[in-house]
Amino acid sequence: MWQYRLLGRLILVLLGTSTWAHTLSIPGENSIQPTYSSTGPCLVLEPTEIVCRGMQSLEEVSNNLPEDVRAQVTKLTLVKAVQGVWTRDGLVNLPSLHTIVFNQSYFSEWELPSRPDAPSLTRLVLEDCWNNDTLKTSKKRSTLSLTSETLAGLAGLEEFHIIDSYVLDLNLSSVETVKPLRLLNIVGGGLNCTKDKLWMLEWMEAGRANITNTTRCFVASSGEMTLFSTRYSFNDHQFLICMQYVKETERDCPKKCQCNVQGFKESHYPIIHLICERVGLTHLPEVIPRCTTRMQFGWNNITDINTLFTNENYRRMDSILLNNNQISYVNGDLFYNYIKDRPLDVYINLASNKLTTLPIKEINKIYEEARKTSQLYYPNFNLADNPWNCDNCSFLPEFQELVYYQSTMLTDYHDIRCPSDSEHHPNKRLVMIDVKSQCSSAPPLLHPLDILNITLAVLLLLLIMNFLHNFYQYRRHGKLPWIIIRMPCC
Ligand SMILES: *[C@@H]1O[C@H](CO)[C@@H](O)[C@H](O)[C@H]1NC(C)=O
Ligand SMILES: *[C@@H]1O[C@H](CO)[C@@H](O)[C@H](O)[C@H]1NC(C)=O
Ligand SMILES: *[C@@H]1O[C@H](CO)[C@@H](O)[C@H](O)[C@H]1NC(C)=O
Ligand SMILES: *[C@@H]1O[C@H](CO)[C@@H](O)[C@H](O)[C@H]1NC(C)=O
Ligand SMILES: *[C@@H]1O[C@H](CO)[C@@H](O)[C@H](O)[C@H]1NC(C)=O
Ligand SMILES: *[C@@H]1O[C@H](CO)[C@@H](O)[C@H](O)[C@H]1NC(C)=O
Ligand SMILES: *[C@@H]1O[C@H](CO)[C@@H](O)[C@H](O)[C@H]1NC(C)=O
Ligand SMILES: *[C@@H]1O[C@H](CO)[C@@H](O)[C@H](O)[C@H]1NC(C)=O
Repeated sequence: MWQYRLLGRLILVLLGTSTWAHTLSIPGENSIQPTYSSTGPCLVLEPTEIVCRGMQSLEEVSNNLPEDVRAQVTKLTLVKAVQGVWTRDGLVNLPSLHTIVFNQSYFSEWELPSRPDAPSLTRLVLEDCWNNDTLKTSKKRSTLSLTSETLAGLAGLEEFHIIDSYVLDLNLSSVETVKPLRLLNIVGGGLNCTKDKLWMLEWMEAGRANITNTTRCFVASSGEMTLFSTRYSFNDHQFLICMQYVKETERDCPKKCQCNVQGFKESHYPIIHLICERVGLTHLPEVIPRCTTRMQFGWNNITDINTLFTNENYRRMDSILLNNNQISYVNGDLFYNYIKDRPLDVYINLASNKLTTLPIKEINKIYEEARKTSQLYYPNFNLADNPWNCDNCSFLPEFQELVYYQSTMLTDYHDIRCPSDSEHHPNKRLVMIDVKSQCSSAPPLLHPLDILNITLAVLLLLLIMNFLHNFYQYRRHGKLPWIIIRMPCC
């Protein structure tokens, strides 16, 4: 009999050492080294509270506890638990247990209990836990995936505390099959700040959730994290602040459009993309997410773009895509006021619209002022495929000059052409037109009035010469001009 006991002990010890060895390889080894009884991995702190190391199931826990302790334990702390099988079936042996804490642990899936009488847990605390080594944060921390499958066997839970963990997904649907969770408490750590977390803000308003301001957003990646993927992202920004932007953006997103908060630029301002392509818009919406930075409104029927220049919500654009619309007019004053003093690059795509002219003076003024102040920011246009009026000499020369000198700022400048019904240059590329010969800037040599004046002067001169000639003839030869001789009166 004693041989069997000894063998059991030996197996347990071996099991314990093997799991200890396993946990040694896990990064993030921390400071606590509670003293464990020499007989096993579990330590009884108080009759109701125990700490176990390196466990992989509730069964293993109860096997390591003396019979009399099992019945009293209410709180179980698991340090460096390893991947294993967890079900509430094991609670039958620990009938008073209501709180389980996983600390610096792998958090395994909780399987559905097989026993119908399996008791419920009321509090679950996860501190510094993970279960997804594939997706890591930019600081190389493993992440915690709490899907409905992972939490499948935790129905009936009342409080869920997640401390200093990096949570990828959190789906409580399986936890709430019996009754709603009373409190979700998230302290520190991080979350992936996407739309699917908006419910957490609602829970906070309803007093069901508590999320600290030290909880941050993170970007998860399976490979090397590039600087670019974290630079314009929410990475390391406060979860609560980022989610407020996500919430506001969802609320103000126009119907039929898509709005995405991409991250932060210049550390304060969010990058918000608004995509409303091919949705039959006839005008720019008045309400769009505040701080939208990129608008894609291509392939609609927009005619008037004054809203862009006057509505505050459009103030922070750095990319304005209005290609393939019906825009025929750009208000020069509004445009100038919109662009000037912007500390931002702006790209404006007006390709394939109905533009015949542009507020060329204002645009030149903007470039001029940017040059004078050696500002690095210039507006950048795409003006291809518009029916530019190539027969208008008060527009064409300046426009061609703009296209020549700002060709680096005009994407696809070689596609700026005259329309097929142009009088002088059907289908010709604008840069190829000989504007001088068409719109010669020097005034014509003679105006019609000058011609009349010269003619009259010549006639007068001839008259005077004729008179002098006649006078000479008369004095010399006494001859009167023949017209006087023929006159009937004399
Ligand atoms: C988890 O372990 C850390 C470090 O040993 C300790 O400071 C912390 O209080 C523990 N957390 C819980 C919930 O017991
Ligand atoms: C890690 O999370 C990702 C995304 O949620 C998932 O596709 C992947 O299967 C997870 N890996 C593990 C080991 O759970
Ligand atoms: C949560 O999981 C359930 C079951 O897998 C699924 O039906 C539901 O859509 C999920 N909820 C979210 C918000 O992903
Ligand atoms: C939320 O957390 C703070 C700080 O940890 C605490 O003072 C507060 O009582 C908590 N609120 C709820 C509803 O649990
Ligand atoms: C977080 O909140 C506490 C009080 O609730 C405040 O003292 C602290 O300054 C806040 N921290 C940040 C980074 O906002
Ligand atoms: C959030 O997680 C999803 C996958 O679960 C991923 O596709 C997305 O890029 C993540 N977003 C951030 C900001 O990390
Ligand atoms: C624009 O309007 C015309 C007629 O008014 C219509 O045929 C066309 O489909 C509209 N385009 C879009 C993108 O809605
Ligand atoms: C010709 O161009 C000028 C300057 O852009 C503009 O004011 C005028 O309306 C244009 N005339 C026509 C007929 O398009």
